[in-house]
Amino acid sequence: MRFLILVFIFLLAQLVNAQKKTVDQRVDSVLRLMTLDEKVGQMNQYNGPWAATGPLTNDDNLLTQIKAGKVSSMLNVTGVARTRELQDLAMQTRLRIPLLFGQDIIHGYRTTFPIPLAEAASWDLEAIERSARIAAIEASAAGVHWTFAPMVDIARDPRWGRVMEGAGEDPYLGSLIAKARVKGFQGRGLGNTDAVMACAKHFAAYGAAVGGRDYNSVDMSLRQLHEVYLPPFKAALDAGAATFMNSFNDLNGIPATANKYLQRDILKGEWKFKGFVVSDWGSVGEMINHGYAKDNKDASMLATNAGSDMDMESRSNIQNLAQLVKEGKVKLSLVDDAVRRILHKKFEIGLFDDPYRFCNEAREKEQWNNQLNLDAEKDMARKSIVLLKNENQLLPLKKAGGQRKIALIGPLVRSIKEHLGFWSYDWPDDSIRITSLWDEVQKKVGDSKLLYAKGCNINDSSKVGFDEAMSVAKDADIIIMSVGEARDMTGEAKSKSNIHLPGVQEELIKAIMATGKPVIVLISAGRPLIFNWTADNVPAILYTWWLGTKGAEAIADVLFGDYNPSGKLPMSFPGTEGQIPIYYNYYNTGRPATSDSDRFYRSAYIDFSIYPKFAFGYGLSYTSFNYSNINLSSTSLKSDQKLTASAVVTNTGKYDGTEVVQLYIRDMVGSVVRPVKELKGFQKIILKAGESKTVSFTITTEDLKFYNNDLKYAWETGDFEIMIGTSSKDVKTAKLTWNK
Ligand code: BGC
Repeated sequence: MRFLILVFIFLLAQLVNAQKKTVDQRVDSVLRLMTLDEKVGQMNQYNGPWAATGPLTNDDNLLTQIKAGKVSSMLNVTGVARTRELQDLAMQTRLRIPLLFGQDIIHGYRTTFPIPLAEAASWDLEAIERSARIAAIEASAAGVHWTFAPMVDIARDPRWGRVMEGAGEDPYLGSLIAKARVKGFQGRGLGNTDAVMACAKHFAAYGAAVGGRDYNSVDMSLRQLHEVYLPPFKAALDAGAATFMNSFNDLNGIPATANKYLQRDILKGEWKFKGFVVSDWGSVGEMINHGYAKDNKDASMLATNAGSDMDMESRSNIQNLAQLVKEGKVKLSLVDDAVRRILHKKFEIGLFDDPYRFCNEAREKEQWNNQLNLDAEKDMARKSIVLLKNENQLLPLKKAGGQRKIALIGPLVRSIKEHLGFWSYDWPDDSIRITSLWDEVQKKVGDSKLLYAKGCNINDSSKVGFDEAMSVAKDADIIIMSVGEARDMTGEAKSKSNIHLPGVQEELIKAIMATGKPVIVLISAGRPLIFNWTADNVPAILYTWWLGTKGAEAIADVLFGDYNPSGKLPMSFPGTEGQIPIYYNYYNTGRPATSDSDRFYRSAYIDFSIYPKFAFGYGLSYTSFNYSNINLSSTSLKSDQKLTASAVVTNTGKYDGTEVVQLYIRDMVGSVVRPVKELKGFQKIILKAGESKTVSFTITTEDLKFYNNDLKYAWETGDFEIMIGTSSKDVKTAKLTWNK
């Protein structure tokens, strides 16, 4: 029997090898036929006929270029009809090499899911994978082969508008989410028509742009790069990410697009990445502005030599690369390598067998309004909501019957589009298919008991609506306020120096609070905002991010207790912009302040707290959880041993609830200084009211590793603290020693 199994495994391996060889051989057989110009064409990507996120170089001969084999891929072209039209042109080229259609499917296509940062607040890897899966199913049914996602940039700076696209500040959580998203997008694997190729971006360190200003420079130690910023990329690669995108920023003086260390040494060298790297929009040509390339020709040379395979929209490759090869400035072997990588993916997704395999009208129609997708969206939205405050158990509200008069006040009560967020798509029927908070609260309590006032706009200084809002508030028994950002206030090129709740919204909250009525505030935003007065004075606050198509239903479910919130913040919320960058896994320093009254020659601010307003990992539930009996299986270990750390978590409240139990570790003394705590595990558990569970984590020396001063990933013996708790600032601690 064992022999048979071995034979079977051997044959399977041969088969896999043979298939692999076939793709390699097929790639080579195409490559052998290609002229240099055709090869360069494969390293060129154009935007579709409308502008998206950057300046467009308008060629009226775009279609002619496709027919001439000068275009490998298009972005921002979706829909079966359109993609088919352009693919028809590619089929008129000499070698009939199919076009790849790429699109930013960041949080859904037809069904808009919560923004990625909101999804990260769910700490629910299965749900996040499902969200990416559905996005891929819908997009691939509309002819899309490739998504420019996930964005796996670690972000410690909420001024940076692109925080909304990532998983927040933590490399551990970020890595697990990167993996879940790649798995979701690529589903059962490339070659299935419901899979889209993932693209891990922006390689690398884009999230650390100086001052939180988009496209800005990044200057950081290699150790920080490896320890904090690269892990989610490695996780995406390990999960099989088909492609990577390089990035707008320079890293320590070298633009990422021409960064050989990043692309050739790490990604394609050490990590053995087999896919291809696309530039960011125009980032090859932008190296002229950086002062790194003297013209487009120079830029194409620098990018290609450094391992950037496909030029998105800068036209540097198409105009110069062939000449550069002729002049010996770029080796043909590098061009061949880039083209091989690109063709390989086109083969893998089956386009050479059937260039129209993603052009299926029936499938496109079926995915247009798919109820299962919408249900999954609602589930994801509910899981993403974070309860920041709930004094005197103001929430949940009673539904019809017990309820008194409710006033809905604020600029976002009746809005639809604002809740979809940046990087979402508009469809002509959105106003019919998507409901507002007003609609959904009405469904819960019936018409007669609802009042409404807008109060103010999102972002202007007018208070003319305040009086009406206050009189509506006075007439009500309870007030729900819906405030926050417009959908274009956080996103690409949406960096802000002031991240307070915009306009006069917080003043409106103060005015309504002055009526003395109980107030619940819902904050809808793409980034951590600052709202200290609200945080200190309003009894109940839900952070609802941008939740997508079914967001209003999800919020209403939470407001009325049909869902008990369990989200936990994936980013620290600052109390003032001056604290930024702010993150939980900082170094202790030589003069740590132990509290906000400990300021005398301490690492502190003389005018503000050092603590975030809301900490990483924080989030409440309608029930309460108590942590006790933290226990280690041993307090003295040897290198080959494992440790089990556990704690008893008890639901001490009146509701069944879900808790994200978090494990942090601190290495007390290191050959380089170590953070005060690092997330190393978490478990999402469900506890019935009154129920207790022992939650256990297995810890090995793998969990103790870090990049030392020689950039070696290794662990060191010594003393450690193991912390288990409900957030990064509320943990129970146990100590141990680990020896060789
Ligand atoms: C963004 C990328 C995006 C690309 C294509 C760029 O401006 O930085 O993340 O994928 O545009 O839309």
